[in-house]
Amino acid sequence: MYSTCIFNQFLAFGKSLGKKMEKIVVLATGGTIAGSAASAHDNLRYQAGQQSIEQVLMGVAGLQQALGPCVLEAHQIAQIDSKDLDYALWQTLAQACAQHLQRSDVRGVIVTHGTDTLEETAYFLDQVLPAAPQAATWQDKAVVLVSAMRPATSAQADGPGNLLQALAVVQNPQARGVLAVACGKVQSAQTVRKVQPYHVDAFSSGDQPVLGQVQQGQVQWQQLPAWQPAAAPRLWQQVLHTPAAQWPWVELVHSGAGSTARTVQALQAAGVNGVVLVGTGNATVHQHLLQGWQVPVWRTTRCLEGSLPPQDVLASELPLAPTGLVPSKARVALLLQLLLA
Ligand code: SIN
Repeated sequence: MYSTCIFNQFLAFGKSLGKKMEKIVVLATGGTIAGSAASAHDNLRYQAGQQSIEQVLMGVAGLQQALGPCVLEAHQIAQIDSKDLDYALWQTLAQACAQHLQRSDVRGVIVTHGTDTLEETAYFLDQVLPAAPQAATWQDKAVVLVSAMRPATSAQADGPGNLLQALAVVQNPQARGVLAVACGKVQSAQTVRKVQPYHVDAFSSGDQPVLGQVQQGQVQWQQLPAWQPAAAPRLWQQVLHTPAAQWPWVELVHSGAGSTARTVQALQAAGVNGVVLVGTGNATVHQHLLQGWQVPVWRTTRCLEGSLPPQDVLASELPLAPTGLVPSKARVALLLQLLLA
């Protein structure tokens, strides 16, 4: 089924493989949660994406209890450091999520992922899955992205605990849409972003509250999650059927002291299809980056906190990115918009 699979393992954990038991599908893509280091005390010099999902799950004490009456079915669909994520894997992942979510015997899907580009994958799935033709069949289910900041070999590995939290969330009757779970927090695909390079509490939703907390295996919602409204069905076709190598090229360009119009010329000469400008303050942009664009350009802010005021302070023909999107997600949003064009 998965043309880009590097593994195609099927594992079953649970009390029985009886046909009536609900299944939780795990789609494994690598990351630090599957990482290995030479020493159990080295949390920096390790390689992401080394352990198979079978090994990762075997390392989760209390897995059976957390599964309750469910059975776990795990598929290794990639084995990468998520900094190297490409669009072909997004196509595989979207297709795999849809294939399993639509199954009546599947309660929900967990995706194991590296932390570095998790926010982009979460936003991509959040936008694209509602466009799938079968989306109406999975409105009461969730896709939960789970990750870790310590490799699986670490004496302080956080992956096992995060996986138990992901299991609690995916089985929760109110879980919906695409969610990110780590360090006891449930965050929305729209708002989650990585803010720490080392601490285990690595994700934040900025000024937005987290959706919920997981404590002692119980989910306490602060805000009930939901799927995004149905997107243009053509988006699904475009995402799945446009060869990854032909997806639009969208770049992030940072505005700051010394920014030069040469960036504009160089990118366009090289064939860029769209640009997200990472502006200063209220998405203001160096004068040398404001002119000369012949491709779609959106503005965002490099500010890490707060949100842009509704009133745009810059009289510019360059529009703001959709409200609330950090630059990494605005880039995905523009990419999807260009795929639809
Ligand atoms: C990765 O993103 O694959 C490596 C880093 C991490 O998972 O924390």
